[in-house]
Amino acid sequence: MEATVWFLTSNPGKLEEAQLHFGPLGYTIEQLVVPEGAIVEPQSDSLQDIAISKLEQAKAHLPSSDAMVMVEDSGLFINALDGFPGVYSSYVHETIGCQGLLRLLTHLESEDPVQHKNLRAASYHAVAALWDGKSMLVGLGECPGSLASEIHEGHGFGYDPVFVPLDLDDFGQPLPAGELGPTSTHGMAFGGVEIDVKHRFSHRRRALEQLLEQLP
Ligand code: IMP
Repeated sequence: MEATVWFLTSNPGKLEEAQLHFGPLGYTIEQLVVPEGAIVEPQSDSLQDIAISKLEQAKAHLPSSDAMVMVEDSGLFINALDGFPGVYSSYVHETIGCQGLLRLLTHLESEDPVQHKNLRAASYHAVAALWDGKSMLVGLGECPGSLASEIHEGHGFGYDPVFVPLDLDDFGQPLPAGELGPTSTHGMAFGGVEIDVKHRFSHRRRALEQLLEQLP
């Protein structure tokens, strides 16, 4: 029997990606639509705390008390800025955007290409939290990389025009900065590669996979 997972999101890309992962395991993803202002995002510097708070609030809007519901939150964390913009990623993107973010990093320059990447190290983080009707499951995903020096428009969204992922090894694990691996964007930002290439590195995919491993 197909089970439904209600997903609290307004992002069609996230819905599609979740369906891709949950579908083969017999789950159908449905968008959970709630009245405007019904979910209040707490002030916190932890993606996990924010996701769990939203999940708790979403339970009140489910069609039945034993229904399953999921929330996914993500952000870009820049090492040299102590993790900024992190939980403020959406707001920072809406205000100063990718161009503004690059301006904040202009002091981080180096002649050495490997050292340059290290100075500009950053990572995407994602937290997926699911209430399965009885207990709460949490999946975490990370995509380490660095910030490019210029913008590569094309595919993706958010900070993809300036985010370059670390290469992956044969097992799909990130390699140290400067090491070449079989899965690579060849130094190109996510904005400059096809969406299925980005998918192999995706923090969101990793978080969803970790969640799925815990489902009974
Ligand atoms: P959300 O709250 O999970 O929708 O994401 C917060 C913000 O983080 C987004 O608005 C983007 O600016 C940024 N972000 C998260 N994941 C990605 C990604 O995969 N690509 C580009 N930007 C991302």
